[in-house]
Order: sequence, then C-alpha cells, then structure tokens
Amino acid sequence: MEKIVSLCKRRGFVFPASEIYGGQGSTYDWGPLGVELKKRVKEAWWEAMVYSRQDVVGLDSAIIQSPRVWEASGHVGGFSDPLIDNKTSKQRYRADHLIENKIAKYEKKGKTDKAAKLQDKLGAVIGDNDLLRELIIEEGVKCPVSGTDDWTEVRQFNLMFETHVGALKDSASIAYLRPETAQGIFINFNNVLTSTRKKLPFGIAQIGKSFRNEITPGNFVFRTREFEQMEMEFFCRPEEADDWFDYWQKERFQWYLDLGVNPEKLRMRPHAADELAHYAAGCGDVEYLFPFGWSELEGVANRTDYDLKKHSEASGQNLSWFDQESKEHITPYVIEPAAGCDRTAMTFLVDAYEEEGEGKETRTVLRFHPKIAPITVAVFPLVKKEGMPEQAEEVELALRRHFRTAIEYNQSIGRRYRRQDEIGTPFCVTIDGETAETQTVTLRERDSMEQSRVPIAELRQRIDEAISQWSRPVPASVS
Ligand code: GAP
Repeated sequence: MEKIVSLCKRRGFVFPASEIYGGQGSTYDWGPLGVELKKRVKEAWWEAMVYSRQDVVGLDSAIIQSPRVWEASGHVGGFSDPLIDNKTSKQRYRADHLIENKIAKYEKKGKTDKAAKLQDKLGAVIGDNDLLRELIIEEGVKCPVSGTDDWTEVRQFNLMFETHVGALKDSASIAYLRPETAQGIFINFNNVLTSTRKKLPFGIAQIGKSFRNEITPGNFVFRTREFEQMEMEFFCRPEEADDWFDYWQKERFQWYLDLGVNPEKLRMRPHAADELAHYAAGCGDVEYLFPFGWSELEGVANRTDYDLKKHSEASGQNLSWFDQESKEHITPYVIEPAAGCDRTAMTFLVDAYEEEGEGKETRTVLRFHPKIAPITVAVFPLVKKEGMPEQAEEVELALRRHFRTAIEYNQSIGRRYRRQDEIGTPFCVTIDGETAETQTVTLRERDSMEQSRVPIAELRQRIDEAISQWSRPVPASVS
C-alpha cells in the first residue's frame, strides 16, 4: 500500500487534505489525475446503470434534507457504530473492527478455519455490545498503541454529521449531512413516477457525496468521512424481488470484471442472516482482496418495502404504484446496488499496480482498463526541433476531440514512456524524423510495449480498436 500511496501523491492522484496546515486526519483531496480517474469510474457506472438501459433514470437530490427524512429512515435512532476505548492509551476504536483485524491476521497467516470461525462469532454478537466486548477479551485483542487489553464498555455512537440551517443555532435548526444518497431517492419516488410515467420494474440512480463521522477511518481512501456513493434503487413487484436480487448481484459483479479487475481478487460474499441490516431481506457484498484483506466494495441489498413504507407513514404521503391492470396499489420492493466511488477508484489503482523487472530497470505500470485511465493517449515529439513539436501539437489537437490526451516535450523518449506507464496511459504516440515525409507516427502500447508505425489518418481508428479489444494481461500471480 505504501508504494501506491506514494505514487498517488507524487503523480497527482490523491493528496492528503489541508496539508499546508498539518493535515486533516484521514481526509484526502483528489488531484488532477485522481479527479479524472474518479470521473471515469462515475461515467462507467452511469453508462452501465442508466444510459445502456431503458428502465433506470437519474436523480441528483439535495445533501441537506428535512431532518424528518432521517428520523423516518431510522438513521437518527439507529445509524451508529459500536465503540470501545482503551483506558491506558485513551484511543477509541470500532469494536467490530478490532475483531475484523484479528480475522485478517488469521487469513494472512493462512489460518482460514480460525478466520471463518471468528467471522461467524462476530456475526453472532453484532448488535449486542456486551457480547462484542466479551469476544474482544476472549480473543485477547490488545490496543495497537498501548499493547494492553484495558478496555471500556462498548457504546453506540451515531455517525451522522449534524449542522444548523439558518441564523439560529438551536435544536429546531438541526439538520444532517446525508449519510447515504439512497434516502433522497425514496423521498422522490412519487415525483419521479409522475414525471416519467415509469412502470414497475424501474430504477432511480444517483451519484453524490455522503458524510459519515467514522470513528476509525483509514486504509487510505477506503474509509473516509466524506466520500462519493453510486447508488441505484430498483423498484419491483414484491414477488419478483428475489429474481431481481440475483440479477443485480450478477450484473454488479460483472461490471468490475468488465473493467479489468483481477477475477482472482474479486468475490461475492452473501451476508449471513445475523449480519443483515434491519431493513434487508438479503445482501451480498462484492469484495476485493486488498493488501489489508478482503473488504467490501459494494453491497447489493434487498431492502424490501421498508423505506417506502416508513416514509409513507411519517409523511402521510402514499408512496406506492398503482397497477392499472389489477387496479391495486403496490408498495414496491427495492433492490439496491450501493457502491463507493472513492473505494472503486482505489480498487482500480491497487489492482492495476505492477512492477516489472529489477533495480534500475524496474518498470512501474498501472494497467488500467483504457476506459478508466485518466489519460488515454500521450503525444511526444521525439526532439524539440525540426518542426516536431508543432506536428505533435497538431496530432494531439486532433486526438483531443475523441480521447483524453496529454503532450510532453521534455526528457528522453524512454523516460517519457515510463512516466506515462506509471500513471496508466495505455497509448503513446511519437512524432519523429519520418513523420513529416510519410505522415506516419509510432504508436506504442503500454501493456505489451509494442510499437507500430501508423498513418496519422488511421490513429483514431487504431486506438478505438485497441480499446474495444483490450483485455487484462494475465497477472504475474497466475502466469
Ligand atoms: N444505501 C446503502 C449504503 O449506504 P453502505 O454499505 O453503508 O450502504 C455503500 O455503503 C457503499 O458506500 C460501500 O460499499 C462503500 O463502497 C461506500 N462507503 C460507505 N462508507 C464509506 C466510507 N466511510 N468511506 C468510503 N466509502 C464508503
């Protein structure tokens, strides 16, 4: 992970936030390349979830809604995590994370049976603070700072950020920064239905920032207090919910594979019954094997009719769909694929990172899918004379209308290739001494490092073909 974090800072993917003031713990700013990576992730998600379908529409709801939304959804009363303090170090931890770390340690040591047993035990005690504390003691979990097991009781802590709306700061002006984008969708159910005349089944998709006062953020941008979610609520007839639940789990798993994620590091993990959120009848997590262990990328949940019913009760509005054929009001069930944009971008970074060769010859390469790469084509004049820079600018300008491009003039051509490899640029085009005469350039591919002579007039088509035929090179671990 350290190498990836360092590359992210050095090359402008991710910066520590408020750095000139000493930083703001576990908060990050996405740099020029990072913002492009996240943009590609969101575009790929929107393409798969909205543009390529007829049954899903988009929404962009407000971050600050009426506090009644969060009372009805159960977030005011129950959106909390179990916390435990170490009396010696005064450090505060998420009690369940202490056990999860222990599970990851067992897995790392190959003690998979022990890991599985502990996972089951954790599932059984989640929701009972006393039993969770007992498990921490039983497992001999020590504070990473003080090395003691001098633990307090486990207490619940609400994760929503509170703020005040308007000039007065009193209990009547309390509002919350949304902890998920999903509720904005539920409360707009009638608006979308009447404005689009959609029939069941249909979905509403939304991408946007969410905020959670996480007690133990960490693992780089994996868990932060401010992050972007990509969520879709798919409304269907209750009797069809199981089929749609299976369908969306498969679709979402395939999405990561289609964008080149190593299949050996991706798995679907069904939740055990005692792990399910109170509103869910089923849930499956897409998980990735990060350097710190298997962790959730996205959850696909069957939320039943819980949310629409809660908001109907609390608002007095009838949030149901009228079936013209049966003349019945149906409160739909909801299947929700809920992903994190930052987490997905981090997954692509971790998964794409490779080092080839040794010593000074080491090539660091991010093998991004070309659809995800922040820059698709970099253009270089071989030397800064003989009209090559001007020709390079012309070629870059023509390509810029179709791809994300960059132009680099300085350093040897080999170094320029390496710099682009390191940020995952799949194609480099070099203008050389032959270009003026033959109207051809060198096209170099990142993964194979193969170079071919291509007429300028055919460049766009050749790059388009290469993007559509791209498949992940066999990772070193399976070759
Ligand atoms: N509406 C359901 C929901 O919000 P969730 O599992 O709490 O479910 C969905 O969140 C996704 O949002 C997660 O799978 C993860 O990718 C992302 N996410 C949640 N909390 C996060 C955090 N603190 N930092 C970064 N991403 C987070």
